[in-house]
Amino acid sequence: MTRIISIVNQKGGVGKTTTAVSLSACLAMLRYRTVLIDLDPQGNATSGLGFSKKELNHSMFDLLIEENPLDIILLPSPVENLSIAPSNNDLLSVEWELSGEEQGKYLLKKELARFLWDRPADERPDFMIIDCPPSLGLLSLNAILASDSIVIPVQCEYYALEGLTEILASASMIRQSFNPRLSLEGILLTMADRRLNLSRQVEEDIRLAYKDYVFQTVISRSVRLSEAPSHGLPITLYDPDSPGAKAYLELTQEIIDHETKSTRPWPVRPTL
Ligand SMILES: Nc1ncnc2c1ncn2[C@@H]1O[C@H](COP(=O)(O)OP(=O)(O)OP(=O)(O)O)[C@@H](O)[C@H]1O
Ligand SMILES: [Mg+2]
Repeated sequence: MTRIISIVNQKGGVGKTTTAVSLSACLAMLRYRTVLIDLDPQGNATSGLGFSKKELNHSMFDLLIEENPLDIILLPSPVENLSIAPSNNDLLSVEWELSGEEQGKYLLKKELARFLWDRPADERPDFMIIDCPPSLGLLSLNAILASDSIVIPVQCEYYALEGLTEILASASMIRQSFNPRLSLEGILLTMADRRLNLSRQVEEDIRLAYKDYVFQTVISRSVRLSEAPSHGLPITLYDPDSPGAKAYLELTQEIIDHETKSTRPWPVRPTL
Protein backbone atom coordinates (compact mmCIF):
# COMPACT_ATOMS: atom_id res chain seq x y z
CA MET A 1 0.00 0.00 0.00
CA THR A 2 1.30 3.41 -0.98
CA ARG A 3 1.09 6.00 1.81
CA ILE A 4 0.44 9.53 0.60
CA ILE A 5 1.45 12.23 3.08
CA SER A 6 1.08 15.99 2.59
CA ILE A 7 3.25 18.49 4.41
CA VAL A 8 0.91 21.44 5.05
CA ASN A 9 0.68 24.75 6.84
CA GLN A 10 -0.77 27.94 5.42
CA LYS A 11 1.94 29.88 7.21
CA GLY A 12 5.11 30.55 5.19
CA GLY A 13 8.64 29.62 6.17
CA VAL A 14 7.80 27.06 8.86
CA GLY A 15 9.91 24.23 7.42
CA LYS A 16 7.45 22.48 5.06
CA THR A 17 9.90 22.10 2.18
CA THR A 18 12.83 21.20 4.43
CA THR A 19 10.64 18.52 6.01
CA ALA A 20 9.29 17.23 2.67
CA VAL A 21 12.77 16.94 1.12
CA SER A 22 14.48 15.53 4.23
CA LEU A 23 11.70 13.04 5.02
CA SER A 24 11.63 11.84 1.38
CA ALA A 25 15.42 11.43 1.36
CA CYS A 26 15.38 9.51 4.67
CA LEU A 27 12.62 7.18 3.48
CA ALA A 28 14.58 6.53 0.27
CA MET A 29 17.75 5.92 2.26
CA LEU A 30 15.84 3.29 4.27
CA ARG A 31 15.04 1.66 0.90
CA TYR A 32 11.42 2.74 0.65
CA ARG A 33 10.52 3.66 -2.94
CA THR A 34 9.57 7.30 -2.58
CA VAL A 35 8.07 9.99 -4.82
CA LEU A 36 8.33 13.64 -3.78
CA ILE A 37 5.67 15.85 -5.34
CA ASP A 38 6.49 19.54 -5.45
CA LEU A 39 3.11 21.27 -5.41
CA ASP A 40 4.41 24.76 -4.71
CA PRO A 41 4.89 27.32 -7.54
CA GLN A 42 8.01 28.50 -5.65
CA GLY A 43 9.57 25.16 -6.67
CA ASN A 44 11.80 25.03 -3.59
CA ALA A 45 11.74 21.24 -3.32
CA THR A 46 12.69 21.08 -7.01
CA SER A 47 15.71 23.38 -6.66
CA GLY A 48 16.53 21.85 -3.26
CA LEU A 49 17.17 18.56 -5.05
CA GLY A 50 19.42 20.26 -7.60
CA PHE A 51 17.05 20.85 -10.54
CA SER A 52 16.92 24.12 -12.43
CA LYS A 53 13.35 25.40 -12.29
CA LYS A 54 13.77 27.21 -15.64
CA GLU A 55 14.88 24.12 -17.53
CA LEU A 56 12.10 21.66 -16.74
CA ASN A 57 10.68 19.80 -19.74
CA HIS A 58 7.66 18.74 -17.72
CA SER A 59 6.29 19.80 -14.38
CA MET A 60 3.24 19.38 -12.17
CA PHE A 61 1.59 22.04 -14.33
CA ASP A 62 1.43 19.47 -17.17
CA LEU A 63 -0.18 16.94 -14.86
CA LEU A 64 -2.82 19.30 -13.47
CA ILE A 65 -3.66 21.31 -16.58
CA GLU A 66 -2.69 19.07 -19.54
CA GLU A 67 -3.58 15.86 -17.67
CA ASN A 68 -0.23 14.33 -18.63
CA PRO A 69 0.46 11.19 -16.58
CA LEU A 70 2.82 11.35 -13.61
CA ASP A 71 5.23 8.91 -15.34
CA ILE A 72 6.43 11.47 -17.85
CA ILE A 73 6.88 14.15 -15.21
CA LEU A 74 8.96 12.17 -12.72
CA LEU A 75 12.72 12.76 -12.62
CA PRO A 76 15.27 10.58 -10.83
CA SER A 77 16.81 12.51 -7.94
CA PRO A 78 20.41 12.42 -6.62
CA VAL A 79 19.11 9.96 -3.99
CA GLU A 80 18.60 6.32 -4.93
CA ASN A 81 14.91 5.23 -4.58
CA LEU A 82 13.71 8.84 -4.72
CA SER A 83 12.11 10.52 -7.71
CA ILE A 84 10.58 13.96 -7.88
CA ALA A 85 7.64 15.49 -9.69
CA PRO A 86 9.06 19.02 -10.10
CA SER A 87 7.34 22.41 -10.24
CA ASN A 88 8.02 25.98 -11.12
CA ASN A 89 6.01 29.16 -11.33
CA ASP A 90 3.93 27.78 -14.23
CA LEU A 91 1.91 26.34 -11.36
CA LEU A 92 0.80 29.84 -10.37
CA SER A 93 -1.87 29.82 -13.04
CA VAL A 94 -3.41 26.58 -11.83
CA GLU A 95 -5.38 28.28 -9.05
CA TRP A 96 -7.34 30.49 -11.46
CA GLU A 97 -7.44 28.07 -14.40
CA LEU A 98 -9.14 25.46 -12.27
CA SER A 99 -11.07 27.68 -9.90
CA GLY A 100 -14.36 27.49 -11.81
CA GLU A 101 -14.19 23.74 -12.33
CA GLU A 102 -16.28 21.52 -10.12
CA GLN A 103 -13.74 18.68 -10.33
CA GLY A 104 -10.69 20.98 -9.99
CA LYS A 105 -9.97 19.95 -6.43
CA TYR A 106 -9.85 16.23 -7.29
CA LEU A 107 -7.31 16.41 -10.15
CA LEU A 108 -4.27 15.31 -8.16
CA LYS A 109 -6.17 12.50 -6.46
CA LYS A 110 -7.37 11.26 -9.87
CA GLU A 111 -3.89 11.39 -11.43
CA LEU A 112 -2.21 9.66 -8.49
CA ALA A 113 -4.86 6.93 -8.54
CA ARG A 114 -4.27 6.47 -12.29
CA PHE A 115 -0.49 6.26 -11.72
CA LEU A 116 -0.90 3.64 -8.98
CA TRP A 117 -3.48 1.56 -10.85
CA ASP A 118 -1.33 1.46 -13.97
CA ARG A 119 1.46 -0.52 -12.32
CA PRO A 120 1.74 -3.83 -10.51
CA ALA A 121 1.73 -3.65 -6.71
CA ASP A 122 5.45 -4.42 -6.43
CA GLU A 123 6.34 -1.45 -8.64
CA ARG A 124 4.29 1.12 -6.77
CA PRO A 125 6.04 3.60 -4.51
CA ASP A 126 5.88 2.95 -0.78
CA PHE A 127 5.49 6.65 -0.01
CA MET A 128 4.42 9.78 -1.85
CA ILE A 129 5.28 13.01 -0.04
CA ILE A 130 3.60 16.24 -1.17
CA ASP A 131 5.20 19.63 -0.46
CA CYS A 132 2.43 22.25 -0.27
CA PRO A 133 2.55 26.01 -0.82
CA PRO A 134 2.02 28.45 2.07
CA SER A 135 -1.73 28.90 1.51
CA LEU A 136 -4.84 26.81 1.72
CA GLY A 137 -5.87 27.44 -1.89
CA LEU A 138 -6.73 24.95 -4.60
CA LEU A 139 -3.24 23.40 -4.70
CA SER A 140 -3.18 22.51 -1.00
CA LEU A 141 -6.80 21.38 -1.28
CA ASN A 142 -5.78 19.02 -4.11
CA ALA A 143 -2.96 17.71 -1.92
CA ILE A 144 -5.12 17.13 1.17
CA LEU A 145 -7.85 15.41 -0.86
CA ALA A 146 -5.26 13.05 -2.39
CA SER A 147 -3.60 12.20 0.95
CA ASP A 148 -3.93 9.55 3.61
CA SER A 149 -2.48 11.86 6.22
CA ILE A 150 -0.91 15.25 6.87
CA VAL A 151 2.16 16.43 8.71
CA ILE A 152 1.94 19.98 10.08
CA PRO A 153 5.32 21.62 10.69
CA VAL A 154 5.13 24.39 13.27
CA GLN A 155 7.90 26.83 13.99
CA CYS A 156 8.59 27.22 17.72
CA GLU A 157 7.66 30.88 17.98
CA TYR A 158 5.10 33.15 19.58
CA TYR A 159 2.18 32.84 17.12
CA ALA A 160 2.62 29.09 16.64
CA LEU A 161 -0.43 28.01 18.65
CA GLU A 162 -2.78 30.41 16.86
CA GLY A 163 -1.57 29.27 13.46
CA LEU A 164 -1.89 25.64 14.49
CA THR A 165 -5.49 26.10 15.64
CA GLU A 166 -6.33 27.66 12.27
CA ILE A 167 -4.71 25.00 10.11
CA LEU A 168 -6.27 22.19 12.15
CA ALA A 169 -9.70 23.79 11.90
CA SER A 170 -9.32 24.14 8.12
CA ALA A 171 -8.01 20.59 7.74
CA SER A 172 -10.93 19.31 9.85
CA MET A 173 -13.41 21.04 7.55
CA ILE A 174 -11.73 19.67 4.43
CA ARG A 175 -11.68 16.22 6.01
CA GLN A 176 -15.36 16.36 6.94
CA SER A 177 -16.47 17.58 3.52
CA PHE A 178 -14.18 15.76 1.11
CA ASN A 179 -11.81 13.18 2.62
CA PRO A 180 -13.15 11.46 5.76
CA ARG A 181 -10.29 8.92 5.81
CA LEU A 182 -7.67 11.65 6.27
CA SER A 183 -5.62 11.27 9.44
CA LEU A 184 -3.25 13.57 11.27
CA GLU A 185 0.19 11.99 11.02
CA GLY A 186 1.47 14.56 13.47
CA ILE A 187 2.50 18.06 14.41
CA LEU A 188 6.23 18.66 13.96
CA LEU A 189 8.06 21.28 16.00
CA THR A 190 10.68 22.93 13.80
CA MET A 191 13.49 25.45 14.16
CA ALA A 192 13.50 24.92 17.92
CA ASP A 193 16.17 26.37 20.15
CA ARG A 194 15.80 24.77 23.54
CA ARG A 195 18.24 27.31 25.05
CA LEU A 196 15.51 29.92 24.62
CA ASN A 197 12.66 30.17 27.12
CA LEU A 198 10.19 31.06 24.38
CA SER A 199 11.04 27.99 22.31
CA ARG A 200 10.71 25.71 25.35
CA GLN A 201 7.43 27.36 26.37
CA VAL A 202 5.93 26.98 22.88
CA GLU A 203 6.92 23.30 22.85
CA GLU A 204 5.37 22.77 26.29
CA ASP A 205 2.10 24.52 25.32
CA ILE A 206 1.75 22.58 22.07
CA ARG A 207 2.48 19.24 23.75
CA LEU A 208 -0.04 20.04 26.49
CA ALA A 209 -2.73 20.89 23.95
CA TYR A 210 -2.11 18.22 21.32
CA LYS A 211 -0.50 15.43 23.38
CA ASP A 212 0.62 12.45 21.31
CA TYR A 213 -0.37 14.11 18.06
CA VAL A 214 2.94 15.96 18.45
CA PHE A 215 5.97 14.03 17.17
CA GLN A 216 8.52 13.16 19.86
CA THR A 217 11.19 14.30 17.43
CA VAL A 218 11.88 18.03 17.48
CA ILE A 219 13.83 19.67 14.63
CA SER A 220 16.30 22.16 16.06
CA ARG A 221 17.51 25.26 14.29
CA SER A 222 20.59 24.25 12.31
CA VAL A 223 22.79 26.07 9.83
CA ARG A 224 23.54 22.82 7.98
CA LEU A 225 19.81 22.30 7.28
CA SER A 226 19.52 25.80 5.85
CA GLU A 227 22.67 25.37 3.72
CA ALA A 228 21.74 22.04 2.12
CA PRO A 229 19.27 23.39 -0.53
CA SER A 230 21.85 25.78 -1.95
CA HIS A 231 23.97 22.71 -2.76
CA GLY A 232 20.99 20.97 -4.36
CA LEU A 233 21.21 18.14 -1.86
CA PRO A 234 19.04 16.79 0.96
CA ILE A 235 20.64 16.90 4.41
CA THR A 236 21.19 13.11 4.27
CA LEU A 237 23.74 13.63 1.47
CA TYR A 238 24.96 17.12 2.35
CA ASP A 239 25.90 16.30 5.96
CA PRO A 240 24.66 12.84 6.98
CA ASP A 241 26.20 13.05 10.47
CA SER A 242 24.72 16.44 11.35
CA PRO A 243 22.12 16.73 14.13
CA GLY A 244 19.58 17.87 11.50
CA ALA A 245 20.04 14.69 9.45
CA LYS A 246 19.74 12.56 12.59
CA ALA A 247 16.59 14.37 13.71
CA TYR A 248 14.90 13.87 10.34
CA LEU A 249 15.85 10.20 10.43
CA GLU A 250 14.18 9.91 13.85
CA LEU A 251 11.07 11.63 12.49
CA THR A 252 11.05 9.20 9.56
CA GLN A 253 11.18 6.26 11.95
CA GLU A 254 8.23 7.67 13.92
CA ILE A 255 6.23 7.96 10.70
CA ILE A 256 7.12 4.42 9.61
CA ASP A 257 6.09 3.15 13.06
CA HIS A 258 2.69 4.88 12.83
CA GLU A 259 1.78 2.42 10.11
CA THR A 260 1.79 -0.40 12.60
CA LYS A 261 -0.48 1.49 15.04
CA SER A 262 -4.21 1.39 14.50
CA THR A 263 -5.53 4.46 12.70
CA ARG A 264 -5.91 7.21 15.23
CA PRO A 265 -9.08 9.26 15.40
CA TRP A 266 -8.93 12.83 14.20
CA PRO A 267 -8.10 15.03 17.22
CA VAL A 268 -10.99 16.68 18.96
CA ARG A 269 -10.19 20.37 19.01
CA PRO A 270 -8.58 20.98 22.38
CA THR A 271 -9.46 23.96 24.54
CA LEU A 272 -6.49 26.26 24.58
N1 LIG B 1 15.66 23.47 11.23
C1 LIG B 1 16.06 24.53 10.53
N2 LIG B 1 17.11 25.27 10.94
C2 LIG B 1 17.53 26.35 10.24
N3 LIG B 1 16.96 26.77 9.12
C3 LIG B 1 15.90 26.07 8.65
C4 LIG B 1 15.40 24.93 9.33
N4 LIG B 1 14.34 24.45 8.62
C5 LIG B 1 14.19 25.27 7.56
N5 LIG B 1 15.11 26.25 7.57
C6 LIG B 1 15.28 27.36 6.62
O1 LIG B 1 14.20 28.25 6.84
C7 LIG B 1 13.68 28.70 5.60
C8 LIG B 1 12.21 28.26 5.47
O2 LIG B 1 12.18 26.83 5.45
P1 LIG B 1 11.31 26.05 4.38
O3 LIG B 1 11.57 26.56 3.01
O4 LIG B 1 11.51 24.61 4.63
O5 LIG B 1 9.88 26.51 4.86
P2 LIG B 1 8.50 26.41 4.07
O6 LIG B 1 7.44 26.27 5.10
O7 LIG B 1 8.58 25.38 3.02
O8 LIG B 1 8.44 27.85 3.39
P3 LIG B 1 7.32 28.31 2.30
O9 LIG B 1 6.07 28.51 3.09
O10 LIG B 1 7.87 29.57 1.72
O11 LIG B 1 7.20 27.22 1.30
C9 LIG B 1 14.58 28.13 4.53
O12 LIG B 1 15.57 29.06 4.22
C10 LIG B 1 15.18 26.90 5.18
O13 LIG B 1 16.46 26.57 4.65
MG1 LIG C 1 8.15 25.53 0.96
